[in-house]
Amino acid sequence: MLLRVQNLQSKNMQHSLPRDLLLTFLLFSSIFSASHACNQIDRNYLLPLPFSTSSPSLNWSATDCCNWKGISCDHKGRVTHIWLSSKGLRGSVPPYIGNLTSLSHLNLSHNALSGCLPVRFFSSCNQLEVLDLSNNHLAGDISLLFSSNGSSEGWPSSIRLVDISNNDVNGIIQYWFLQRAQKLDKLNAGFNSLSGLIPHVIYSATSLEEISLPSNNLTSPISNDIVNLTKLTCLELYDIELSGRLPVDIGKLNRLKHLLLDTNHLTGSLPPSLMNCTNLMTLNLGLNFFEGDISTFNFSHLHQLPTLDLWNNKFTGSFPVSLPSCKSMRAIRIARNRLEGQIPPEMVQLKFLSFLSLSYNRLTNVTGAINILMRCKSLSILLLTQNFLHEALPTEDSIVDFYGFQNLQLLGLDLCQLTGQLPIWLSKLKKLEILNLNANRITGPIPGWLSTLPRLISLELSCNLISGEFPKELCALLALVSE
Ligand SMILES: *[C@@H]1O[C@H](CO)[C@@H](O)[C@H](O)[C@H]1NC(C)=O
Ligand SMILES: *[C@@H]1O[C@H](CO)[C@@H](O)[C@H](O)[C@H]1NC(C)=O
Ligand SMILES: *[C@@H]1O[C@H](CO)[C@@H](O)[C@H](O)[C@H]1NC(C)=O
Ligand SMILES: *[C@@H]1O[C@H](CO)[C@@H](O)[C@H](O)[C@H]1NC(C)=O
Ligand SMILES: *[C@@H]1O[C@H](CO)[C@@H](O)[C@H](O)[C@H]1NC(C)=O
Ligand SMILES: *[C@@H]1O[C@H](CO)[C@@H](O)[C@H](O)[C@H]1NC(C)=O
Ligand SMILES: *[C@@H]1O[C@H](CO)[C@@H](O)[C@H](O)[C@H]1NC(C)=O
Ligand SMILES: *[C@@H]1O[C@H](CO)[C@@H](O)[C@H](O)[C@H]1NC(C)=O
Ligand SMILES: *[C@@H]1O[C@H](CO)[C@@H](O)[C@H](O)[C@H]1NC(C)=O
Repeated sequence: MLLRVQNLQSKNMQHSLPRDLLLTFLLFSSIFSASHACNQIDRNYLLPLPFSTSSPSLNWSATDCCNWKGISCDHKGRVTHIWLSSKGLRGSVPPYIGNLTSLSHLNLSHNALSGCLPVRFFSSCNQLEVLDLSNNHLAGDISLLFSSNGSSEGWPSSIRLVDISNNDVNGIIQYWFLQRAQKLDKLNAGFNSLSGLIPHVIYSATSLEEISLPSNNLTSPISNDIVNLTKLTCLELYDIELSGRLPVDIGKLNRLKHLLLDTNHLTGSLPPSLMNCTNLMTLNLGLNFFEGDISTFNFSHLHQLPTLDLWNNKFTGSFPVSLPSCKSMRAIRIARNRLEGQIPPEMVQLKFLSFLSLSYNRLTNVTGAINILMRCKSLSILLLTQNFLHEALPTEDSIVDFYGFQNLQLLGLDLCQLTGQLPIWLSKLKKLEILNLNANRITGPIPGWLSTLPRLISLELSCNLISGEFPKELCALLALVSE
């Protein structure tokens, strides 16, 4: 019997012992973490940083460096975060910051740091997750940032985010940069002087969600392997000397929200699959050499798209009839292409459209265009320069909705060779500030009723066939007088 009792007791003890130990451990560790002061080795690495003296707002005098402004530690008192964005920091980034071996977040963005990126910066920072050095004046070769000798040695595989945008970093993005970065989701190195090819291995970094490398000198085409990056939401590769065509299967990137590829040398027609990127919020393909009949695209699937910029390409065909079914559209720029035909009546569905530029195309029927666009209630800027060649200005009788264009501030109908006299319907545009009718073939006098436009501040009528006297009423133009 006794034995059994003892047995029971010892069984009880076996059950309760680990729980007690756990409690004791928790108690101790919470006391410890509360009282754990800054690791002295880390403190010694922090102290000589130029940051402690360069900014009067930093007060790094307390003994416990874990309480210093911009510094956080883990429960062992090891420094994990240096978060000193916008602190007016000057000087260079000292290499021994890399000796803070527990560092996971380094954010020194928006300061005035200069000098070269330190060589072998992260040789021992194998916990680093976030590196934000953006918006400084750092220079030097990007390939030395993570390694001293041209191998992936030193690249912290824990890295999730790299932002070195807006500096003066040069060099080539080496493939080994990306080889070990299995967790990298944001790579931002825009507005630097990077050159060479975008390494193909970038298309194997399937954790990538954002690639932003604008304003560099990266001459590569975009590989169709980009469809492997199924998590991609943002691809910003504008103004970097890109060439080649858009990948045919780009539509497989159905999470894509921002596609900015303007100011490059891209050619060919738009792949039909692009219309499968139904989450697009920004589509900017301007200043390239794209061609093909734009009216064959069914834009109606891009129902979230607020802006579309295709200016300065070689697109042909008529204005896409499906575009007005993108109900969220606020701004459209397809200027400097080869569009023909008429503005489709469906445009009136675009209730939020405030900016429309179709200048330098080959559109026809100015009366139809004005009648339709007058009914776009939000339109405030309308640029139709150099279209409708040699047509007649819409007259009074041809205007259906006399009270349209109630938010129009800027109307550009210059370089159109339009004939006729200045029509009185213009006097109804009560918000009009700038009216450009240069280089038409407008005849007759400058009408005095122009002075009734309350906000007009710029009236351009040069290179026309205007006759008669300058109306003295115009001297009283309210806006001209007050501003
Ligand atoms: C800096 O911090 C120490 C300790 O927290 C404090 O005693 C001192 O007044 C502070 N100095 C300034 C200039 O704020
Ligand atoms: C760095 O800090 C700035 C300011 O707090 C912040 O806007 C930025 O998002 C931070 N960077 C990262 C990568 O979180
Ligand atoms: C940083 O650590 C490396 C070795 O890990 C060492 O050689 C170097 O001297 C350290 N830097 C400083 C400034 O102590
Ligand atoms: C770079 O250095 C590492 C160790 O420091 C070494 O293992 C590697 O082989 C070197 N790589 C090259 C390409 O020299
Ligand atoms: C861009 O890179 C090419 C070669 O990759 C080079 O010939 C050219 O000079 C570079 N342009 C600029 C502006 O750096
Ligand atoms: C992309 O995926 C395809 C199919 O899975 C594969 O054959 C190709 O090697 C991948 N490309 C890269 C660069 O990883
Ligand atoms: C768009 O996606 C649908 C559904 O996934 C698919 O059937 C269609 O072939 C795709 N269109 C293009 C042009 O890739
Ligand atoms: C465009 O797609 C929509 C929705 O799938 C469809 O209703 C419409 O008929 C299509 N328009 C054209 C011109 O193909
Ligand atoms: C011009 O457009 C209007 C409105 O869409 C239309 O009624 C008219 O027939 C068109 N004129 C010509 C010559 O096509």
